[in-house]
Amino acid sequence: MAPVRTTTIGCGYLGATHAACMAELGYDVLGVEVDPDKLAMLREGRAPVYEAGLDEMLARHVASGRLRFTDSYEEAGAFGEIHFLCLGTPQRSDGLGADTSQVEYAVRTLAPHLTGSPLVVGKSTVPVGTAARMAALLTELTPSGVEAELAWNPEFLREAHGVDDTLRPDRLVFGVRSDAAEKRLREFYAPVIDLGVNGATPVVVTDYATAELVKVTANSFLATKISFINAVAEVCEVAGADVVALADAIGYDDRIGRKMLGAGVGFGGGCLPKDLRAFQHRAGELGVEDVMSLLGEVDAINAHQRERTVQIAKGMLGRSLRGARIAVWGAAFKPGTDDVRDSPALAIAGQLHLRGAQVTVFDPKAGRTARAAYPTMSYAEGAVEACRDADLVLHMTEWPEFREVDVDRVTEVVAHRRLLDGRNVLDLQAWRNAGWTARGLGRL
Ligand code: UDX
Repeated sequence: MAPVRTTTIGCGYLGATHAACMAELGYDVLGVEVDPDKLAMLREGRAPVYEAGLDEMLARHVASGRLRFTDSYEEAGAFGEIHFLCLGTPQRSDGLGADTSQVEYAVRTLAPHLTGSPLVVGKSTVPVGTAARMAALLTELTPSGVEAELAWNPEFLREAHGVDDTLRPDRLVFGVRSDAAEKRLREFYAPVIDLGVNGATPVVVTDYATAELVKVTANSFLATKISFINAVAEVCEVAGADVVALADAIGYDDRIGRKMLGAGVGFGGGCLPKDLRAFQHRAGELGVEDVMSLLGEVDAINAHQRERTVQIAKGMLGRSLRGARIAVWGAAFKPGTDDVRDSPALAIAGQLHLRGAQVTVFDPKAGRTARAAYPTMSYAEGAVEACRDADLVLHMTEWPEFREVDVDRVTEVVAHRRLLDGRNVLDLQAWRNAGWTARGLGRL
C-alpha cells in the first residue's frame, strides 16, 4: 500500500519538526511555507531554527524525496489526504489574545483546493472556539463533491526536545466530531502510539473545545508551577532557606513532581507567557475572567523575577549600574535553542544595558538571534571572554558550558569576583572556594 500523503501547512519550528518526523515515520510529506527565505532553507534540508537532530532528519528525508516543500496551496490540496495546520498564533499586538489570522488564512486558502475526502488537522495553539469556526469555514469553502473534515490535535513539544516529543509524546489528544476522524487519526499515528515510552502512548479522544483547552491549560499549569516556586524562593531568601533543597523535597511527592520547579529568573519563550495571557483573555471574553485571575498573578510574579534580578545585580555591585561591566551568560530563553523570544536572560541584560551598564553577552547558540533583537549590546565569542574585566557575572541560561567552565580561567580575567546564578545550577561552593561572592535566587 502506498504511504499516506500528508501535508504540513506552515513550516516554522512546529511545522518543520512535524514534517520531518512524519517523513521519519514513513509518510510522504509536503510542507507548505510561504516565507521565501524559510522555503529556500527547507528545500536544502536545513531547519529554520536551531534544534538538535532536526537538520539531520530534514536533510535525510529531503535527499530521499520523501519530504518536499512548496509555497503552493494548490499543490498541497491536490497532494494531501491528511493536512496538518502548524501555523503560529503569536500574541496579538494589543498584548492580550492570540492572533489566529495565519490559521484562518491557511484554512481559507487551502479549502478551495482540497480534493478527495481530506482530514484537516489543527495543531496550532488557539483560543477555545477557533476549531468550531474553522470547521464552519471549511464546510463553506470546500468544493462540492469533496468531503472534508476537521480535527484538533494540539502539539505539546518542547523546544530543544522537538523530535523526541513528536515521536514519543506523553499523550495524544484528538478533538473530533466523528468516529471516522478518530479512526483516521489512530491509524495515522499508529507508529507513534506503538512507540510509547511506557507501553502504548495514551490517546484522549474528545471534542474540539476540550482539545483546544488542554493545550493552554497544560502550559498555564506549568507556568503556575514555575511562578509558585519563584514566589517561594523569595520567602526562602528572607528566611535563610534553600529553595533547591526545598524543591527536591516537595518534588519527591508524586502528586507534586520535581519538574518545572526550577526556581530562577522565570519562564520565557514563544509559548508559556503567550498562552497564559491568551487563556486569561479568552476566559474574559467568555465572561469568566475573575476565576482565571490567578493567571494574572502567575504572569506578574514572572515579570517580577526580571526586575528583582536587576535589583540584586545592582546590590551585588554595591554601586550604580552606570558604567559597571556585567557579563551575561546566556541569551536563549532556555538551553538547547537559539530562540530568544521573551527570554528572561535578554530582558535582564537589556534592562541593565538601558540603565547604563556595559553588558557583554555570550550564548553558545543564540548569539545571532540575540544580536538581531538587541543590536546595541556587546557580544562575546566565549564564556571566559565575556567575563574580561567584568565587575559581575550573571548566569542566566543554564547551558552545560557554564556548569563546566574552568573557574580559575574566569577568575583570572574578571575585575571583581561576583557571580549571580539565576538558574540555581552552578556549584556555588566551588566559586566561593576560588574567592568569589556567589549567590543564587532563593538560596544565599
Ligand atoms: C513549553 C511546554 O513545555 C511545551 O509542552 C509546549 O508545547 C510549549 O511550551 P517550551 O516553551 O519549549 O515548551 O519550554 P519549557 O521547557 O517548558 O520551558 C519554558 C520556560 O520555563 C523556559 O524559559 C525555562 O527556562 C523556564 N523554566 C522551566 C523554569 O524557569 N523553571 C523550570 O523548572 C522549568
